[in-house]
Amino acid sequence: MSKQQITNNKQVKAIGGETYLNKNCWLVKNLNSLPYTRCQYCELRFRHCLFLQYQVISALLICFALALFYILDKKLSFAPIIIVFAIVIIYGYFFNKSTEKIIKSNFFEKKAKEELKTLSSKLEDKVAEQTKEIKAKAERMLKLVEMRSDFLDIASHQLRTPTSVIRGTLAMMRDGDMDKMKPVERSKFIDGMYQKSIKLEEIINDILMASEMETGSEMNITTDDQIDLTDLVNKIISEHIFDAQAKKLQLVWQKPNESMLIRGSLKYLGETIDHILDNAIKYTIQGAVTVTLAKNVDKVLLTIQDTGIGIPKADQAKVFNKFARAKNAKNAYTDGSGLGLFIVKEVIDKHPGAKVWLESQENKGTKVYLEFILNK
Ligand SMILES: Nc1ncnc2c1ncn2[C@@H]1O[C@H](COP(=O)(O)OP(=O)(O)O)[C@@H](O)[C@H]1O
Ligand SMILES: [Mg+2]
Repeated sequence: MSKQQITNNKQVKAIGGETYLNKNCWLVKNLNSLPYTRCQYCELRFRHCLFLQYQVISALLICFALALFYILDKKLSFAPIIIVFAIVIIYGYFFNKSTEKIIKSNFFEKKAKEELKTLSSKLEDKVAEQTKEIKAKAERMLKLVEMRSDFLDIASHQLRTPTSVIRGTLAMMRDGDMDKMKPVERSKFIDGMYQKSIKLEEIINDILMASEMETGSEMNITTDDQIDLTDLVNKIISEHIFDAQAKKLQLVWQKPNESMLIRGSLKYLGETIDHILDNAIKYTIQGAVTVTLAKNVDKVLLTIQDTGIGIPKADQAKVFNKFARAKNAKNAYTDGSGLGLFIVKEVIDKHPGAKVWLESQENKGTKVYLEFILNK
């Protein structure tokens, strides 16, 4: 039987339908047809059937009337029989009409109630769904407003300083003040401008990446690049040698002799490791930054340890939050967006099985751990 036929049958057999048969009805069961139109609206069992009750009462009345006539007249003549049957038939006709009306109106009332119930439950669902949507939108708006004010904060403090240094130096060039300077002094100013432009670019990049992360779930990082961590870390370290040297820091790379294969996003993991190494160098005044990479059964552990200013205990829990900076870092280094570790955490969270955490002691140093699933 086709699907269409099944649904058609269902429609036809629906209570109230033209050929609806109440299978609980004795008459329907025995005659297997619709005995009276009102039965299509009736779901009652036969023993509750008004029609049956009418029949039983009628039969009793007929017997009683005929018996009465017989007792009074001592015989049963044709006229009283006709009268009794005529009364019963007329009574039956009106009885049938009125009960049909009652059953029909009960049926329509019940149907209307049911429809109202499904409608109101549908309405409730719709309202709940829309409330949820509105709530999510409101939360998102709140987040955006928060982000906007955070961004304004960053823009006013972090972006203004480098731009004003760059503008000041350019003004000196324009006005010929630089020409009067000794070459050493001049190159100091130009280098300052260059460093500030790098800072500016870094902060802008961080903001862009963090907002990309914020728009969140829509951003799909594909984490199926085959990455050799040994190679990747090696490349990133070579890019930081100059920064470490400039600060007279030792940059120790305990490079393993083997490849460490993992799956992930080459671009984003590169940025992540770069951010952590950048922090280690930035927040270390003297001493060393040590990078190690080790295999442990089915995992790979990358650690970046420094002998820097460390993170006060009270701030350790929040440094992975957006725009969060520890007190000591804020005091010692005015520039910084507080977005680096937020981006790191977001990227790592998008890599199945990967983890990031840190251990730190104020004025002693920090150790950041990155753990990945080894891809054998
Ligand atoms: N290696 C580190 N040593 C000391 N403090 C660190 C180190 N790495 C991160 N931090 C702390 O975590 C904060 C957040 O780091 P990050 O998100 O990279 O922001 P930013 O470097 O722009 O301030 C820093 O401001 C600093 O307080
Ligand atoms: Mg940073």
